[in-house]
Amino acid sequence: MRFQNRVVIVTGGSKGIGAGCVRVFAAEGGSVAILDLDEGAGGRLADELSALSPGRVRCYGCDVSDGGALAGAIEAVVRDFGRLDCLINNAGIHPPAMSIDETSLESVERLMRINFLSSFAGAKFAAPHLRKTKGTIVNMSSMTAVLGQEKSAAYSASKGAQLSLTKALALELGRDGIRVNAVLPSNVDTPLMREWAATLDDPESALERVSQMQVFGRMASPEEIGRVCLFLATEDSSFVTGQGIEVEGGASLDY
Ligand SMILES: NC(=O)c1ccc[n+]([C@@H]2O[C@H](COP(=O)([O-])OP(=O)(O)OC[C@H]3O[C@@H](n4cnc5c(N)ncnc54)[C@H](O)[C@@H]3O)[C@@H](O)[C@H]2O)c1
Repeated sequence: MRFQNRVVIVTGGSKGIGAGCVRVFAAEGGSVAILDLDEGAGGRLADELSALSPGRVRCYGCDVSDGGALAGAIEAVVRDFGRLDCLINNAGIHPPAMSIDETSLESVERLMRINFLSSFAGAKFAAPHLRKTKGTIVNMSSMTAVLGQEKSAAYSASKGAQLSLTKALALELGRDGIRVNAVLPSNVDTPLMREWAATLDDPESALERVSQMQVFGRMASPEEIGRVCLFLATEDSSFVTGQGIEVEGGASLDY
């Protein structure tokens, strides 16, 4: 029960890595607020876990790329749950592989709003509440932030922006006792991963190739990423801030 009597917001918590975080924090007794566009899936997950967990799990419909909506949702969570101990800025999208010549500036702007601005805005609106609890922020970046990715310049840049934000904010908010870290997964078996593979000619062999990038010959599960987020959200990591934790199953080894 490492998160009992504490409250976490997980953006994009209805599915994939976010849902893995929700499951891990709920199992540790935490109260969990899911902020997601997909209220149906988030509501079903909340109902399932509320029946099992001592904490409360609730879904709030929210488009995190809309700063006003995000501010309103964070205030609603604090009103309903009474406090905020951790914000996990996880919601994000990965556009299909595209060269820079094929990528419109409008699509880059939209991507940056969803993947980056939402993390900045989430931190901004959560900070007043996190100062009271000496809470934590976890930004879901990606190994593409440090390694790049073919035909994914805008996506990689959005993940790099989250990592730089993590370091700068850790300095600024550390004075108030708030720790800020990022998690950089390589390949995680989520709906996003499977939707990306489905855009390719041979989805099955693409998923196999992606699995073999890790030394274990498989992708991470969402819960494996969730457990690292739990570590970063508790006193177990009390001297860790401003770090990008590479949770990549050895994918970047053997250069
Ligand atoms: N899957 C991977 O291999 C992988 C690797 C590295 C980083 N990541 C990052 O992890 C995060 C989650 O990825 P995933 O694979 O779980 O994705 P996913 O598509 O499986 O799930 C994402 C969730 O976010 C929600 N969402 C999307 N846009 C939203 C918005 N504007 N407002 C609110 N909710 C929104 C979706 O409804 C969904 O529930 C992303 O930031 C992604 O960049 C994923």
